[in-house]
Amino acid sequence: MCRCMTDWSMLCRVGYVRRCAATLNPILGAVACRQKHTLPDLPYDYGALQPHICAEIMQLHHSKHHAAYVNNLNVTEEKYQEALAKGDVTTQVSLQPALKFNGGGHINHTIFWTNLSPNGGGEPQGELLEAIKRDFGSLQKMKEKMSAATVAVQGSGWGWLGFDKDSGRLRIAACANQDPLQGTTGLVPLLGIDVWEHAYYLQYKNVRPDYVKAIWNVVNWENVSERLQAAKK
Ligand SMILES: [Fe+2]
Repeated sequence: MCRCMTDWSMLCRVGYVRRCAATLNPILGAVACRQKHTLPDLPYDYGALQPHICAEIMQLHHSKHHAAYVNNLNVTEEKYQEALAKGDVTTQVSLQPALKFNGGGHINHTIFWTNLSPNGGGEPQGELLEAIKRDFGSLQKMKEKMSAATVAVQGSGWGWLGFDKDSGRLRIAACANQDPLQGTTGLVPLLGIDVWEHAYYLQYKNVRPDYVKAIWNVVNWENVSERLQAAKK
């Protein structure tokens, strides 16, 4: 379970389709598998997070933006596979930025949808709440610290509550662009706030702080708790 909630392995659960039709070549004795990522369904309707996030934002965000990351990730992986087969290291290196951007976009959004819920908000319970109090003083202080770090992201990026496996403590971090939290900082992502303009501009215009304030009303603390439990294993 612990590894199922982390970046790539998590995608296996939510949107990874294995295509191994021609799996075993009896002559060559080789296994040839191709894997494609797919857009995961939202666990709620596009309008379910209103009034905090409007339906139009959710629809565009999920069906256009996230879908584009998925499609571009698949294209990039295909090119990477070809370069790998040819031993073309130059092309492999040149594909790294696209892999990071689109792979990160897919990872981040897949987490983000489950971090939110029409029944969200309120306060976390149990071990998560105790960990927040231990590491930040109170839930309010954690929210203030994470909100400040998230609002302060320059340009496009994400604010995160993450778990540091080395120290066993919670930490706040911000990532630029679509840089995935674990892949770039080592922290296991528990709760992410997308502050790309596509996540809020249609409703909140340039007032990013209002969007960040509103999103706490739809945070799915149960999902965050499950992620913490998985990260600790
Ligand atoms: Fe986004």
